[in-house]
Parts: sequence; C-alpha cells; structure tokens
Amino acid sequence: MLALLAMADCMQDWPEPVVRVQALAESGLAAIPRCYVKPLCDRPAPAADDDASSGLSIPVVDLRGGGGDELGDQLAEAVAAACRGWGFFQVVNHGVRPELMRAAREAWRGFFRLPLPEKQKYANSPRTYEGYGSRLGVEKGAILDWGDYYFLHLSPEAAKSPAKYWPANPVICKEVSEEYGGEVIGLCERLMRLLSASLGLDETRFQEAFGGAECGACLRANYYPRCPQPDLTLGLSAHSDPGVLTVLLADDHVHGLQVRRRDGHWVTVQPLPDAFIVNVGDQIQILSNSMYKSVEHRVIVNAEEERISLALFYNPRGDVPVAPAPELVTPERPSLYPPMTFDEYRVYVRKNGPKGKAQLEALKGQSITENNE
Ligand code: OGA
Ligand code: NI
Repeated sequence: MLALLAMADCMQDWPEPVVRVQALAESGLAAIPRCYVKPLCDRPAPAADDDASSGLSIPVVDLRGGGGDELGDQLAEAVAAACRGWGFFQVVNHGVRPELMRAAREAWRGFFRLPLPEKQKYANSPRTYEGYGSRLGVEKGAILDWGDYYFLHLSPEAAKSPAKYWPANPVICKEVSEEYGGEVIGLCERLMRLLSASLGLDETRFQEAFGGAECGACLRANYYPRCPQPDLTLGLSAHSDPGVLTVLLADDHVHGLQVRRRDGHWVTVQPLPDAFIVNVGDQIQILSNSMYKSVEHRVIVNAEEERISLALFYNPRGDVPVAPAPELVTPERPSLYPPMTFDEYRVYVRKNGPKGKAQLEALKGQSITENNE
C-alpha cells in the first residue's frame, strides 16, 4: 500500500521540464540534445544492414468474407499462423472505410500543425496521460524518444476522456476520432473472436475474459518530427504493448515502424494501402499462457520527413484479473503468470516507460505488488 501511495505521488508530474520534440525539430538545430542520444546497442542499424535485402515482411491477413464456417476456419488458421510466427500482421479488407481512416489521420495531423501555445493547452501529466505529451515514463534522467503524442480514452463510456481533454481544433477531431474509434473497436472484437477460435476456444472466450462489453479502448496519435541525426535516436523505444491488441494506422508514405523477429533482427514494416497493422499485446500473452506472444517493436525516424500514426489500444476492463485461461494450462505447460488487473499493470508500465519486454518477463511467477515496490 505504501509503495502504491509513493508511486501515485511521483506520477503527479513529469520529473523534468517538458520539451516538445516538434519545437526542437523546428528550431533547426543540427545536433540532437544529449538526452535523446540512445546507447549504441539501441540505435537503429545502418540502412544497409536492414531487412530491405532479406525480403522479410510481416504476414497479411485478408478479412474479406469469413462469415461461413469453412471460410471462418481458414481465417482463424491464418490469424493463428500470424500470431505464432510474428505476433504482428497487416489486415486488409477489414471493413473500416478508407475515407474515415484518412479523415482521422488528417485531423490529427492538423492538431500537430497548430501553433505550440494552442497545443500546450492540452499538456498532459503522468497521472492519466490524457492530452498532449512528449515522454512515456517518469524516470528522472531517462533517455527520451524523438516524438510527441496525444493520448485519449475512447471507451467504455464511463472511462471516456472528458471534453476538456479533447482538442477544440481541428473542429472535426473529436467527432472523427469517435467514429473511427467505434469502427476500429468493432474490428478488435472480430479479431478477438478469431484469436479465441484459433486457440481452440469458444469464440467469445477471449472477450469474456477481458471484461465483455466493458473492454477499454484508447487512442494515441503519434507524431515523429524530422530528426537531424536519425541514426542516434528512436521515435519510440523498443516496447511491447501492454494491452490486448493494438490496431495501428501508419503514415501513408513514411515508414518507421520496426518489428523484432524471433531471431532478434529488426524488420521495417511496409504498410499496404488502406491496411491496418495489428499486434498482439501483453494481455494476450498472459491469457494464452504464452501460446501467443506480444512482440517488441520500435519506431525509427528520418531527416527528411515527419511521420504520423494512430494507435488504437484495445485493453481489458481495468478491474478484471487476467490470468492464463485454465483450458491452456496443463501439467506440461503450467500457468506462467499470476492474475492481475490491467489497472495494476498499467501503473507499473507507466512508471517505467518503454522497456522492451522486460516488464512482462519480470512478472512471471510473481505478484505485481512485489514489482511495484
Ligand atoms: C505505439 C506504437 C508505432 C508507430 O504507439 O505503441 O508502437 O508506428 N506505435 O507509431
Ligand atoms: Ni506499440
């Protein structure tokens, strides 16, 4: 309890004055400040060592049809293969209108183009993260990422960010984000049925385990400004997503997302037109008892162009303890994780910021309160 109180206290505000990366980039500086320079081992590989020559890419799942049993089985099999092999895939023919996708992305681009004082009105704090932010984690002296973001809760209704957290400009931002969010949440629900079925469970099993109709959804608009020294830093450090599923709408022409393959190799994702990029989050790794693993990913930046992405995080209801499904626990495959609620897990993750997969690994066989101390 004391540890939780102490943590709540340190989460009231950022440990250092907040610097907007966009403002730094626009100041035209030739060298990035020291606090953005990553240690050698975390820097992006020179382009020649990248995957361009290896021909590796994340799988593509076509969601068209799939209503009938047989098609549904094939689809579940495709999803299963993508989750086992990569934990990351693109979905096409997903049913979300391309015009809505574009409208949402452009609304957020419009926000980031506003003058700085206009954006500062929505400056966020580590207590809820809602609003305009420039760092994840509250560790003093941490090496920071080359990106700004805007974070909001979309659902359930009771958890939705109050009006004051939504930008007044662009005027359509709220409406378009809500409509977009509703559609993408529908897609997440469909993906959950497929994931559940692909593990031989009842279609509704995953959704129920994560809180039924009360699952959460959050939106993060990520903005990665141009960077004068892209080889020294990252737009977003390696991390796995803490929730259930993430549906990412990537920039339509600037690449940047990299996924870590099993062999440790970083692969740059080449988004298909109008596709979403989906990845398995930590909660699916927990519920599936590690049959499906959340995968590390990161973002690289470049000197020529800014990049924007919209990440929709589909999360469990905050107060439901999530643990490996008993059907997936056997004497040969004992339960790997203690039950924990997403509210607890999120506090833990928010304090530490992006840390690869270290956060989930540390929980194996432990209780979250031990880790929060
Ligand atoms: C995230 C994320 C990737 C990107 O927001 O968690 O991984 O391309 N974003 O912005
Ligand atoms: Ni992510």
